[in-house]
Amino acid sequence: MNYFKQLNTLLDSSFAPYSGFNVASIVVTKEGKQFKGVNVESAAYPTTICAERNAIHTAVTEGVKMGDIKEVHILARNADKLLVKAYPCGSCRQVIAEQTKNDAQVYSYSSETEVEQHSIAELLPFGFLGEEL
Ligand code: THU
Repeated sequence: MNYFKQLNTLLDSSFAPYSGFNVASIVVTKEGKQFKGVNVESAAYPTTICAERNAIHTAVTEGVKMGDIKEVHILARNADKLLVKAYPCGSCRQVIAEQTKNDAQVYSYSSETEVEQHSIAELLPFGFLGEEL
């Protein structure tokens, strides 16, 4: 399924006054449930949280279990208000890999028809999934 329209609407909820870079993410479970997230920036810059992690953390809060999320959809808009393709940052790749048991597809949109798809295993090779703990 294509989430461009929902992501594009969701971008307006992003709080990014410092970078001007708005990001929206929708994660989808194996049962087809959807959870949304946007980036929320902070004046203390490192306190910022990304859209992908906000979406995943909301899903977990709502009872979604490890391994249930199968898709992560991402759309970004830069400070010039142009839609641009974005890939998850390193911290988000870690959380995506863990919460999906390293089995998710990540979709990076730049328009309704331009969508790049990668598996999380491809985006985070040799990931640390916590099995060694
Ligand atoms: N950001 C995300 O929310 N997700 C990404 O995939 C890339 C980066 C946010 C963090 C920060 O608010 C802004 O984009 C610029 O880094």
